[in-house]
Amino acid sequence: MRQIHICEVGPRDGLQNAHHLMPTEAKKGWIRAIAEAGVEEIEVGSFVPPKLIPAMADTAHIVSYCLTLKNFKVVALAPNVKGFERAVAAGAQKITFPVSASRAHSLANVRMAPEQMVEEVRKCVQLRGKAGPEIEAGVSTAFGCTMQGDVPEDDVVRLAVMLAGTGADCVALADTVGYANPAQIKRVFRRVRAEIGDKLEAAHLHNTRGLGLANALAAYEEGVRHFDSSMGGLGGCPFAPGASGNVITEDLVFMFESMGVPTGIDLDKLMAARQLMVAALPEEPVYGHMALAGVPKGFRAAA
Ligand code: COA
Ligand code: ZN
Repeated sequence: MRQIHICEVGPRDGLQNAHHLMPTEAKKGWIRAIAEAGVEEIEVGSFVPPKLIPAMADTAHIVSYCLTLKNFKVVALAPNVKGFERAVAAGAQKITFPVSASRAHSLANVRMAPEQMVEEVRKCVQLRGKAGPEIEAGVSTAFGCTMQGDVPEDDVVRLAVMLAGTGADCVALADTVGYANPAQIKRVFRRVRAEIGDKLEAAHLHNTRGLGLANALAAYEEGVRHFDSSMGGLGGCPFAPGASGNVITEDLVFMFESMGVPTGIDLDKLMAARQLMVAALPEEPVYGHMALAGVPKGFRAAA
C-alpha cells in the first residue's frame, strides 16, 4: 500500500516554463509512460489563455486522451472561473487553483488580488455542485516571493483558512520560487494544520536553491503525505521571476522508497518515462541525481 501520494506536475508546471513546445503526440506518450510507472495523479496541463502560455493550448485534447487511460487521476490547473468551466467541460477529475499569498505575485500571475482569487475559487465550488471534480486550492509563494520578498506567515495562515472556508476539498502550500528551508516548512505546515486540519494536503516544492528534498522530508515529518514533483526537475512559474524547477520526481521516489516508505511507483519505469521526456525536449536542461548515478547496488523498493 502506498503511503506517499505523488502528483507528477511536469506536463503542467514543467512544460509551461520550457523553452520549446513538446508536440502533443509526444506529450501523450510521456504522460502514458508516467502513468504506467504507477503515478496516481498527473497534472496534465492548464486552462489558461493559449496566447499567454502556448504550451498549454492542447490541454483539453490532452485531458480527454488521459481519461481513456483510466489508470490515474487527471488533474488540471485553472486560474479563474473561465478556466474552471473549460476544465470541467474537458472532464478534468481534479482542478487546482493558484492563489498567491504574495499580492505582487498574485497580480502578476492571475491579475487578481489574493482575496479576489479566493472569491474565484468560491464561485467554482458553487458551480460544480455535488457531482463535480475535486477542487484543490494551492497557496503559492507561501514561503517567500521574488517580487515581494518576505511573505508573512500570518498572511499564509489567513489565506489557507479563507480557502478552506470556500468549500474546496483540499489546500496545498507551494514554495513557488524555492525560498523555503526545512525549519520554515515545519513551522508553516504545523501552523496551517492547526487551523484547517486534514484539509491541508499537499506540499508543492521547488528545488531552486537545492533544498527540495530536505523540504520534502521536513514536510513528511510534519505528517504531509501528498507531494507535487516534476520529472527531470522541469518547472517554474513564468510570472514569478527567478522561479525554476520542482523537486525531482525520480529523486523524491528514491528517497521515500529507500526509507522503506512505499510510493507505489516503479523507479525503472519512471526512468523510462524520463527518457521519453528528454527525447521530446532535447534542448531542455533536465536535472536529477538518480539519472546521473543510478540506483545503488542492492537497492530494494519499499514493500
Ligand atoms: N482560458 C482561456 N481564455 C481565457 C481564460 C481562460 N482561463 N480566462 C480569460 N480568458 C480570455 C477571456 O475570454 C478574454 O478573451 P477576449 O479578449 O477574446 O474577450 C481574455 O482572455 C482576457 O480575459 P480576462 O478575464 O480579462 O483575463 P486577464 O487578461 O485579466 O488574465 C488570467 C487573467 C487569469 C486569465 C491570466 O492572468 C492567466 O491565465 N494567468 C495564469 C498564468 C499561469 O498559468 N501561471 C502559471 C501557473 S501558476
Ligand atoms: Zn510550481
